[in-house]
Order: sequence, then structure tokens, then C-alpha cells
Amino acid sequence: MHTAINLSSSISVYLEENESLCDAFDRAGEVLPHGCLAGSCGVCLIDVKQGSELLKAPRTIELDTLNAIKKEKPELTNHHIRLACKAKQIHPGEIHFEKI
Ligand code: FES
Repeated sequence: MHTAINLSSSISVYLEENESLCDAFDRAGEVLPHGCLAGSCGVCLIDVKQGSELLKAPRTIELDTLNAIKKEKPELTNHHIRLACKAKQIHPGEIHFEKI
């Protein structure tokens, strides 16, 4: 089972195959703050507190954005930050995250 919990709102959703966290929460009626939905603006930034290893590895556009954010906010360097519009769960389990 693929599940994600937004610790900021205590809402949990089931993720369908190849569905981003943004899309899954939108489907469940909780719109996560977002902008471009393309991995470049960083508005959908989240801090994955548990289960980051269950997510598909970030691709180049997400990595570039995450690196730019970490450069701007070095305090996030040791956090498992991801972009909710690009993060997709590929392994079963539970992901816990907070909106930054
Ligand atoms: S909405 Fe712009 S990076 Fe996710």
C-alpha cells in the first residue's frame, strides 16, 4: 500500500501508481500549495520526515531546484526535501512529510 501523511494537516492519502504527492492530495480534496507543477518554482517544497527511500529518485529538473533551494537555505541541507509536484512513491509503505 502506498500512503502519504501530511503532518502539517494530519491528512493521509493513498497514492496511485505514478501519481505525484500534489496530485494525490488534490484528488483527496486537500490542495498542497503549488505553482508551476513542473519542478522549477519550488513552491511545493516539502520535508520528508519518514519514508524518503520509498520515493522515486528525483530527476534533473527537481534536483536542480532542490540544489538551488539548499544553496539559498543551507539550514535545509540535512533535510530530505522534495518537490511534492514531482515526488512519486514507488515502494509500498508510509511517507510522512511536512510542508515547508
Ligand atoms: S509546483 Fe513548482 S516546483 Fe512544484
